[in-house]
Amino acid sequence: MLENILTPIFHNVWTIDCPQKFLGMEIGTRMTIIRLKSGELFLHSPIHLTNDIPKKLNTLGKVTYVIAPNKFHHLYIGAYYTAFPNAEMYAVPGLDKKRPDLSFHVVLTNETVYEWREEIDHLVFRGIPLINEVLFLHRESRTLILTDLIFNFGSDLALTTKIF
Ligand SMILES: [Fe+2]
Repeated sequence: MLENILTPIFHNVWTIDCPQKFLGMEIGTRMTIIRLKSGELFLHSPIHLTNDIPKKLNTLGKVTYVIAPNKFHHLYIGAYYTAFPNAEMYAVPGLDKKRPDLSFHVVLTNETVYEWREEIDHLVFRGIPLINEVLFLHRESRTLILTDLIFNFGSDLALTTKIF
């Protein structure tokens, strides 16, 4: 089985990349992990939950916030309810209606001040109701976390992905 590699981005920010097919093309997907000053973890766009992921995350901190950052990135979040029963699950506007079975705890708005506000800024991006993406900015590392508003594929690509 493929091992999930934690890639450090900053001293309190990591990513894990994971294969993901879309319309038959390998485009990959990525979870971003932020450790707040409290030791709580903020998981952005949870990936397929394999056995090694909870172990890895538990060495970093306490999984507390799990974010589905747009209306397409909800495929794997269900398993995180079971693995991290005390975590709060956040949806973008409209995803709660698209996936009522997930019973999200919070639907993100621009008006609400969340507990992670001191360290992470967010913006519900209006104008593309199909995805309703929410952008996040980790202030300390100046890391802007986007999902489908921009793609960064790297250089080693299949031809079909290059064309896409
Ligand atoms: Fe995506």
